[in-house]
Amino acid sequence: MSDSRPIGIFDSGVGGLTVVAKMQEILPKENLVYFGDTARVPYGTKSKETVTKFSVENVEFLMEHNVKLVIVACNTASSLSLDFLKRCFKVPIIGVIEPGAREAASVTRNDRIGVIGTHATVSSGAYEKAIKKINPRYSVFTQACPLFVPLVEEGWVDKAVTDSVAQIYLKPLKRRSVDTLILGCTHYPILRGVLRKNMGQGVILIDSAREVAREAREILDASGLLNGSGSKGKYKFFVSDEPNRFIRIGEQFLKKRINCVKRAV
Ligand code: DGL
Repeated sequence: MSDSRPIGIFDSGVGGLTVVAKMQEILPKENLVYFGDTARVPYGTKSKETVTKFSVENVEFLMEHNVKLVIVACNTASSLSLDFLKRCFKVPIIGVIEPGAREAASVTRNDRIGVIGTHATVSSGAYEKAIKKINPRYSVFTQACPLFVPLVEEGWVDKAVTDSVAQIYLKPLKRRSVDTLILGCTHYPILRGVLRKNMGQGVILIDSAREVAREAREILDASGLLNGSGSKGKYKFFVSDEPNRFIRIGEQFLKKRINCVKRAV
């Protein structure tokens, strides 16, 4: 069996391209439709009601493209809205929280897991809940790192200021001796180098983007929905505001040219 319908992915903006990058690696034949809600970003400072309303609209948009699976690439939307989305729509919908939590639980050696994310993700307790559901013995320590998003979007990945900000944010987690750190925000995989330097070589960094791409592969494979035709998937990108900023930052995220981005509304 083979199904060439696209996979839909949405994020609050450009950050979900870290998921697209992993999809390229893990499911290269799949066609993708990406929606970045650039007119309403950031989600990380907004309420559950607001993020849920936006998320429902984003899935409705993707459904117009006949998607076979929806990936909520945004950690904030996954934390606040995934359960509601699953109840609203028939199409399978997956978020980044559970795949990241499962991977962290499977690799920690001292059962002490750190989670970094936006204010909304951290205060939702979604990662803690998902990890404790796997096994209540795990200790989970969370830290909101709101300044990381604008630093990444500014392209300041290797600047001293980013290193100083990381030092301040990560100090409490280092004090707690976590041996595993979940990068619980779309933008954080871009900061892998600075996070690695500040946490030390012994700490395992979990990239939720990679884990959700793996989960997508498992689900499609199990239900016979993988795309067997063609050699390379086709990607369509849509945004809710003007595309130029998305293209400029997005090309840094994907490390390749983004040719066709359309404004959705
Ligand atoms: N995409 C968001 C997340 O992963 C980060 C940016 C925002 O606050 O909207 O939580």
